[in-house]
Amino acid sequence: MKIAVIGVGYVGLVTSACFAKLGHTVIGADNDKNKIAKLNAGGIPIFEPGLEEIVSDGVKHGRLTFTSNAKEAIKKSDVVFICVGTPPRPDGSADLSSVEKVAKWAAEVMTSYKLIIEKSTVPVKTGEWVKHTIRKNIKRNIPFDVASNPEFLREGTAIYDFLNPDRIVFGVDSEKAKKVLLELYKDIDAPKLVTNINTAELIKHASNSFLSMKISFINAISRICEKAGADVTKIAEGMGYDKRIARAFLNAGPGFGGFCFPKDVSAFIHIADQLGYDFHLLKSVERVNEEQKMFVVEKVVAAIGAVRGKKIGVLGLAFKPNTDDTRFSPALEIVKMLLKQGAEISAYDPEGMENARKSLKGLKTGSDEYAVMKRADALLILTDWEEFRNLDLPRIKKLLKKPVVVDARNLYDPAKMKKAGFKYYSIGR
Ligand code: UDX
Repeated sequence: MKIAVIGVGYVGLVTSACFAKLGHTVIGADNDKNKIAKLNAGGIPIFEPGLEEIVSDGVKHGRLTFTSNAKEAIKKSDVVFICVGTPPRPDGSADLSSVEKVAKWAAEVMTSYKLIIEKSTVPVKTGEWVKHTIRKNIKRNIPFDVASNPEFLREGTAIYDFLNPDRIVFGVDSEKAKKVLLELYKDIDAPKLVTNINTAELIKHASNSFLSMKISFINAISRICEKAGADVTKIAEGMGYDKRIARAFLNAGPGFGGFCFPKDVSAFIHIADQLGYDFHLLKSVERVNEEQKMFVVEKVVAAIGAVRGKKIGVLGLAFKPNTDDTRFSPALEIVKMLLKQGAEISAYDPEGMENARKSLKGLKTGSDEYAVMKRADALLILTDWEEFRNLDLPRIKKLLKKPVVVDARNLYDPAKMKKAGFKYYSIGR
C-alpha cells in the first residue's frame, strides 16, 4: 500500500520505517527541512536502538522516502497517518492545530478515496472533528474515511513494540476502513481490536493513565514503607505474582516522566472535565508524581543537610534508560530543584547530556560515571541505566568526599551498601 506519514518525529519515523519494513511504500513528510535533509542523507535525528538500520534499509530498497512537501505526500498515497505533535497547552489540553492543518491539506489534495488515520495521541472525539474538518474543506464529493489507530510504543524499544505489539487497536466507522487497516497490519501477529473511533481514542488515554496510576500507587506505597519499616521492592514482588495485578510498572522511583505520561495524564483530566466528569483519581496520580520529585530532594537534604554550596554527583538525566530524551524527565527536574537550593551539580548520563544541557543552560557534566563523584558530598542516582547497576563500590568510596549515596531507583542492595561502608538511602526500603 502507498502510505504517507505526516510528521516524522518519534512516532512518525518509527511508523514510517516499520511500515516500509513490512513491504509498504512509505513517504515520510515533515515541515522541518533540516530533519528531512538529515533523513535523506541517511542520518536519523533521534536516538532509538535499531531505528537507523531499518530506516536505511527502507531507503536502500526504495520503499521509504522523505519530503518536506506534506501535500505532495498525501496526494500520492492511499493511506495517510497523522503523526504530528499534539503538545500540551498551558491548561493541560492538547494543541490540535497541526492535526487540523493535515486535515485541511488532505481535503485540498484529495481526488479519490483515502483513509486518514490518526496515530498521534488525541482527545476523544478528535476523529469526528477531523472528519468534519475534511468534509467542510473538500471541494468535491469524494469518499474518504477517518480512523484512529493509537500507538503504544515505548522509547528505547519502539521498533520491537511496533512489530510485536500486545494489541493493535482500530477505531473505525466503516467496513472499508476496517478492511484497509487489517490489510496494512496483516503481517503482524497480535490481537486486533476493532472499535468505534471514540472508543479507540479513549483506549490510548485510559492505558497510559492506568500505567501512570500504577507508578504513583507504588510510589505512595513507598512512602508508607519508609514510615513502617517495610520494603517496597518486596511489596511490588508480592503484588506482582497476582496475575490480576502483574509486576510491571511497580518500580518505585523519582516519579514518571517523558513526553507521554505527564502530558497524557494532564490531557485526560482536561478531557474528562470537558465531558463533565471530575477525574479526581487521576488528579491524585499527578499530585503523587509531583510530590515524589520533591521527596527525592528532601532525601538528599536529610542525607547531607542543606545543599547550598555542597557538591552532588548525579547519575542519570534521561527520563528512563536507553534514550537521550530528557523532556519532562524527573531527573532533570530534581537537578533543577537542587540547583535552585544552591547545590553544585556535576552530572553524567550515557545519552542524555546534550539534551539536558540544551534545556538547562550551564549544567556541568562529567565524562563518565566516576568523573562526577570526585570530592562530592553525595552521589545521587536518578535514572536506572543498566551501566549504573554494577559500579565499582570501593572506587566510589575513594572518590566521594563522604560515602553518601542516594539511590532514587533502588539499584543497589541496602545491606551490601551498608557493609561496603556507605550511608545509603533508597526509595521505600
Ligand atoms: C509510555 C508507554 O509505555 C507507551 O505505551 C506509550 O505509547 C508512550 O508512553 P515511554 O514514555 O517511552 O512509554 O516510557 P515508559 O517505559 O512507559 O516509562 C515512562 C516513565 O515511567 C519513565 O519515567 C519511567 O522511569 C517511569 N516508570 C516506569 C517508573 O517510574 N516505574 C515503573 O515501574 C515503570
